[in-house]
Amino acid sequence: MKQNESKILIFGGTGYIGSHMVKASIKLGHPTYVFTRPDSDKKDLIREFQSMGAIIIKGRVEEHDKLVEALREVDIVISALAYPQVLDQLKILEAIKIAGNIKRFLPSDFGVEEDRVSALPPFEAFLDKKRRIRRAIEEAKIPYTFISANCYGSYFINYLLNPSHPNKQEITVYGSGEAKAVLNYEQDIGMYTIKVATDPRMHNRIVIFRPSENAVSQLELISLWEKKTGKIFKKTHISEEEIVTLSQTLPDPQNIPVSILHSVFVKGATADFEIGGDDVEASSLYPDLKFSTVDEMLDVFLKNPPKPASAAFE
Ligand SMILES: NC(=O)c1ccc[n+]([C@@H]2O[C@H](COP(=O)([O-])OP(=O)(O)OC[C@H]3O[C@@H](n4cnc5c(N)ncnc54)[C@H](OP(=O)(O)O)[C@@H]3O)[C@@H](O)[C@H]2O)c1
Repeated sequence: MKQNESKILIFGGTGYIGSHMVKASIKLGHPTYVFTRPDSDKKDLIREFQSMGAIIIKGRVEEHDKLVEALREVDIVISALAYPQVLDQLKILEAIKIAGNIKRFLPSDFGVEEDRVSALPPFEAFLDKKRRIRRAIEEAKIPYTFISANCYGSYFINYLLNPSHPNKQEITVYGSGEAKAVLNYEQDIGMYTIKVATDPRMHNRIVIFRPSENAVSQLELISLWEKKTGKIFKKTHISEEEIVTLSQTLPDPQNIPVSILHSVFVKGATADFEIGGDDVEASSLYPDLKFSTVDEMLDVFLKNPPKPASAAFE
């Protein structure tokens, strides 16, 4: 192993965002381990990772001894498990404590900065689970980096603009459409996550992915898309009151996505606070790396639109 390489184990590495982390880790030359369930349905991706040189460890987070054994092989642990598995990370923490060798743990945050926002109750309950993991990590004195990646760019461009339905003439706008939201391209999130995870300066820090040029309002995003496609869309606004009512009346967990839309696109939760104190904004950390702009992401959608995805809430 070369001097700047770390052995990195990724939980949820076959997932929507985890797969970008695995690919970035391999690209940066780190020996990369992927912990995946024996009955995972991501067989093709696992084969692709193997052909790229990843080491696949099959197991479940409930298998404590297997977890400890896997952790003893590596230096850095990243969890990109989905929201329903957030509290399962307590089992990873228990194993990290026993293994005793882990130099950095990055829990599955990767959204709004949960220690800086307050949201409607369904989203608060979601964030509380992630906060609980952060507090458990701090209490156990496990070295960490907490990442706020803000909005996954392709995920939300798909959601807001429906580019995979080219005949759709109508776009839904949440609230006035004027609040800014930060959109980051998934490949960049993968790459910056690995850079930050292996950066000694980011030890026990909160790192926020918030390049200033990636903060756009929905109306700005629609206008950019209209220029690129040469189309004019009908904009249908859903008022803040309607969104709040939906968050109160939809059953759990369908009340979570509307509460996230409220927080991010009505209240501007990803863009409206000062980054200060010990917290770090990532975009100027590495001179050889930059975040793709929203304009560049939209160009990707013009040529080869990434498939729509939906996050798991149960
Ligand atoms: N900022 C944003 O815009 C945004 C958007 C979406 C999600 N997120 C966040 O990103 C993080 C990762 O979410 P994701 O959507 O990328 O995850 P995901 O793709 O839904 O799942 C990640 C992996 O978890 C494993 N998994 C799935 N179901 C499981 C189960 N029942 N038990 C154990 N493991 C299971 C699977 O791996 P194996 O099959 O290999 O075991 C899967 O590939 C979460 O914290 C989520 O809240 C953020």
